[in-house]
Amino acid sequence: MYFKFLSKLEFFLLNMEKKIRAAITAIQGYVPDYILTNAELERMVDTTDEWIVSRTGIKERRLLKGENMGTSFMGIKAAQQLLEKTSTDPLEIDLLICATVTPDFVFPATANLIAHAIGANNAFNYDLQAACSGFLYALVTASQFIETGKYKKILVVGADKMSSIIDYTDRSTCIIFGDGAGAILLEPNTEGNGVIDSVLRSDGAGQEHLYMKAGGSRKPPSIESIANKEHFVTQDGAAVYKSAVKYMSEAAAEIMQRNNLSADDVAYLVPHQANKRIIEATANRMGIGADKVLINIQRYGNTTSGTIPLCMWDNEAKFKKGDNLVLAAFGGGFTWGSVFLKWAY
Ligand code: UT7
Repeated sequence: MYFKFLSKLEFFLLNMEKKIRAAITAIQGYVPDYILTNAELERMVDTTDEWIVSRTGIKERRLLKGENMGTSFMGIKAAQQLLEKTSTDPLEIDLLICATVTPDFVFPATANLIAHAIGANNAFNYDLQAACSGFLYALVTASQFIETGKYKKILVVGADKMSSIIDYTDRSTCIIFGDGAGAILLEPNTEGNGVIDSVLRSDGAGQEHLYMKAGGSRKPPSIESIANKEHFVTQDGAAVYKSAVKYMSEAAAEIMQRNNLSADDVAYLVPHQANKRIIEATANRMGIGADKVLINIQRYGNTTSGTIPLCMWDNEAKFKKGDNLVLAAFGGGFTWGSVFLKWAY
């Protein structure tokens, strides 16, 4: 009996040790050179630096300028630099997922373009669209392929050229968004590090609060849709703000509770960078101090799928192996969620 019990325990421990988790083993960001400052926005629309900083925390954002430059340009840069610095052979990449709401084309997928450009010729690739939660959705989706043991190297890219869908005469949206991309390499980890748990949610009831009115199959592009400025981001800021505060903080609190994480256990919160006040509300709900909240919204604004990988990239030097990170996001759809991961290097 005693022997039986021991062997069961041993079996359990053995399996615990061997559980394959998907760990981030490298991260790289890319932001374009052009800096759109609040001062420049003051000259474009009726706004002030004081209003923008106090309501959002944003001081400047990057814009991708130039003919024929789409989201893939930034995704390629981030992915290429990641491969270079890790000396990874692109032919070893099994899968590349690109989270974006601003694909170069309706089809083919931006992920196809990125994979082709970096020489990931053995990978299959697809785009994933979940607005500002896109990176989290892509990270969790990719993790499943690692956890099953099916694949060994996956690139997840979060990239958006938000300037391509922003009306720069609309002061309520043009001050918020920016362009940028981040890429991570996911690999198997059997030391207990990597993605531990996730809470992902969506609710299509939020659709009319944050969306693009035309350009899809319901309302294809037309002379009228262009004249009516329907190919730009339409946002009911206050409604989105209210839901973002509620759901992003709830998801972050839920993941802490589910994993018995106290505020002390959390090394850092890596939040989607939409509004400094939404981030602060999330941190308050988690009960963590400002020193654990990673914010770079002042430099890049809201880059949609790019915010979380760019924020991790900016703060990579701070992370230690085994650190508990909580990632959290909220965006159009509505979509939201949080991910608990242990940093692997
Ligand atoms: O990442 C995707 C998810 N998106 C978000 O999470 C965004 C969530 N929403 C927000 O971050 C905020 O709602 C905004 C930053 C978009 C707006 O801030 P707010 O404090 O909610 O402002 P508001 O929309 O309630 O507008 C307050 C006032 C209005 O004027 P009146 O009607 O009170 O006279 C606006 O017209 O501020 C005005 N306003 C501005 N004033 C100066 C709106 N935009 C500007 C501006 N400069 N850029």
